[in-house]
Amino acid sequence: MKTTTRRRTARFLAPVLALALALSAGSPAQAEDPPLRDLADRHGLRMGVAVSAHLLDNARYAEIAAEQYNSVTHENELKWESVQPQRGQFNWSGADRLVDFARANGQDVYGHTLVWHSQLPSWVADGGFSAPELEGVMEDHISTVVNRYADDISHWDVVNEAFNEDGTFRDSVFHRTLGEDYIATSLEMAHAADPDARLFINDYNVEGINAKSDGLYRLASSLVARGVPLHGVGLQSHLIVGQVPSSMQANIQRFADLGLEVVVTELDIRTTTPASEQQLQAQAADYTRVFQACMAVDGCGGVTVWGVGDANSWIPDVFPGQGDALPYDHQYDTKPAYWAMHEALGGDGDPGPGPDPDPDGSCAVTYTVSDQWNQGAVINVTVRNTGSATVDGWSLAWTSPTGQQVTSAWNATVTRTGSTVTAEGVSWNRTLPPGGSATFGFQITHQGQVDTPDAFELNGTACD
Ligand code: G3I
Repeated sequence: MKTTTRRRTARFLAPVLALALALSAGSPAQAEDPPLRDLADRHGLRMGVAVSAHLLDNARYAEIAAEQYNSVTHENELKWESVQPQRGQFNWSGADRLVDFARANGQDVYGHTLVWHSQLPSWVADGGFSAPELEGVMEDHISTVVNRYADDISHWDVVNEAFNEDGTFRDSVFHRTLGEDYIATSLEMAHAADPDARLFINDYNVEGINAKSDGLYRLASSLVARGVPLHGVGLQSHLIVGQVPSSMQANIQRFADLGLEVVVTELDIRTTTPASEQQLQAQAADYTRVFQACMAVDGCGGVTVWGVGDANSWIPDVFPGQGDALPYDHQYDTKPAYWAMHEALGGDGDPGPGPDPDPDGSCAVTYTVSDQWNQGAVINVTVRNTGSATVDGWSLAWTSPTGQQVTSAWNATVTRTGSTVTAEGVSWNRTLPPGGSATFGFQITHQGQVDTPDAFELNGTACD
């Protein structure tokens, strides 16, 4: 929010804080491994993450977002329907929460997004505005939002997803009413509100050289030639394992050659779920490819990943049966993709030996409510053998509130007797060697209460 001093250099001041957090956090990354943000800072690169403000209530989620990334992007809270759901009624709560978080953690904020056909309230989309009226509506929205965050937001996705797959302009209320110059007009408005902001056009399926990125390239060339304040293009990069375009580096280069910054703005690389170890390794190689394509070009400003962990990704809702696309898994543990980014940024890329066996306990449990609705929830649990002896046949028990029923389970047999829930390993995961773990899940019905249990027993012995 606007204050008297501007703090655009925050991401270059961040390493000391980040390292302190890394050393104190006890994260699955080993204490001696620098966090991604430190490695990225050494290259002057953005290493960002999309964050949902309400998920910052989850301590592990917040810890990763703060510790590993030098930049955050609002996953939804800065979109038009969130900020100005009714004409003239601005709601800043979610947007402010993440901006405050970024300030507290010395992070830059990448602004997403101002003018987009989606998540656009119906008072704009169906308002029947004339061209001058719509320009007035845009001017009010853009200037109010950009001005409010001028101290905190260095880059803006001013226009999002303006193109069809064939490189023509997408039909939207903006294009229908104002023609393609709505893009230049939006950029001019954002520039007037904050002359220091770096202004971007952002889109998906424009990572390689193809008809759609050709359309973006034609537009970008023309805006640059006309002196319109365009400073960069965002390649969203919602990719599929095995399908990173081979022309990605050449594509980044051609935009950089126009004098533009290129940012990989929404990286995730999805696969069928649950991902096998082989798929996770292939995914890691694809993360490496994306980082190599960016880091090989001077004008590439960095990468933002679209979410903290697989438990909260948008993908399964839109592509059922797909997901597991992010560098942290459903339990917020690092995946091979994390270590691929680490290595691409100059780290050792070595996960190390894993968490130290706990001399005082024999097991550790991560219990994650990964989805929840009125009367149901999906829960994922990982149990790890932190003792020094192999557990041959495990049974994990905890208590849960009355009124909950287990309706299905996977990778374990889960039963409930009274208030005690018991999960037993199945044939392929019943043995836990020292340091070994098993992950299982189950679905419940409930009566409005989904607590996280605070005590577990593995074969009758208390876990941490
Ligand atoms: O907040 C409501 C909640 O109250 C309600 O109970 C629930 C029921 O479905 O919906 C919640 O809103 C959802 C919102 O995310 C917040 O979780 C919307 O339904 C859902 O459509 C929305 O999805 C977002 C999507 O953009 C919308 O288009 C995703 O989180 C977000 O990751 C995704 O991000 C986009 C980028 O902005 C642009 N590029 C593509 C990318 C992925 O689709």
